[in-house]
Amino acid sequence: MNGQALGGVGVEIIGSGMHLPEGTLTNQDLEGMMETSDAWIVKRTGINTRRRADIANGETSSVLATEAMRKALRNAKIDATDLDLILVATMTCDSPTPSVGCMVAREIGCRDIGAMDINAACSGFLYTISIADAMIKSGAYKTVGVIGVDTITRHIDYSDFGRGAAILFGDGAGAVVLRAHDDPSKGMIAHKMHADGNGARHLFIPSCPLDFPAEAEFDERKINTVQMNGQAVFKFAVTKFQEVIAETLDEARMCADEIDHYVCHQANSRILDSARERFGIPEEKLLVNIQKYGNTVGGSIPIVYDELMKDGKIKPGQKVMFLAFGAGLTWGSSLWQL
Ligand code: ACO
Repeated sequence: MNGQALGGVGVEIIGSGMHLPEGTLTNQDLEGMMETSDAWIVKRTGINTRRRADIANGETSSVLATEAMRKALRNAKIDATDLDLILVATMTCDSPTPSVGCMVAREIGCRDIGAMDINAACSGFLYTISIADAMIKSGAYKTVGVIGVDTITRHIDYSDFGRGAAILFGDGAGAVVLRAHDDPSKGMIAHKMHADGNGARHLFIPSCPLDFPAEAEFDERKINTVQMNGQAVFKFAVTKFQEVIAETLDEARMCADEIDHYVCHQANSRILDSARERFGIPEEKLLVNIQKYGNTVGGSIPIVYDELMKDGKIKPGQKVMFLAFGAGLTWGSSLWQL
């Protein structure tokens, strides 16, 4: 579906913010926890350090999300009472219910507006801004807060047994505020949302023995921790990232060099390099910040966007392509005219 200008309404990103836990987890810290090395992690992933939320002391997804949304509202120069809807991309709610969205709305002092969570793992923020754009263009909502947040480190096994996934992930939140605009050319101009549940067991968090694939042996140590077939996810990511860039450019009838910024999910710097090489994307158009934060799942894309904003690199009139892939398996794009 092309998201352009239903009913003559455009959508503008009027503010952004991010919030990271203070606690860090460096490659050197990991060397002391499991059989790994800084050199191995840097070479295979590009990651130097990451943030880790203090869950035991209440630093949950809703706490990070609330701070990110507060900063986005300040940046947008509007009040929480101006919001008409809150959408949160997350796969790590504080508890199964209530949603992170409800907690954020309460904490920042919204009216009794709608608030909900959307789970598409690392593709969550990408799915969610695409949905928010469509909801604003439908005329139903004017100002929507969109948050991406995860505290995935609570599901990591920091022993030798879990080292494949342990090195990759960090915690964090980012947020944007979207508002209806009377220029209908602004907002999402093309998007793709894909999912293929056949790959579900390449990246999953089992919560009971039934969650294990039939051919796999049940192992108590795996319960509630990220289980990842790293090589399968890597191949899927490299292939789908490139495919989805091509199909989005095709839908928008644009060339790769017409895009000002590729705002990408940060999973592994080698995956991003492969896309850059294939499409001839210069380094300055695809920000890589994985060295500082690792893979923050739903938080990753809005964190990149906020860093670009703060550095003054995002400008009105530019074209920005958001790109992600993740568990599900899911992948997609959302191309915006700012
Ligand atoms: N430290 C040192 N050695 C390790 C580690 C580690 N942390 N982990 C694995 N190894 C070893 C393996 O045991 C293996 O040893 P062997 O050759 O003696 O058997 C060797 O290193 C190579 O292992 P591979 O798994 O083949 O390593 P690979 O080059 O594939 O890198 C990695 C692993 C970094 C996980 C990579 O596969 C990857 O990035 N995959 C994509 C993962 C991803 O993006 N996941 C997030 C998706 S987003 C979401 O929705 C959550």
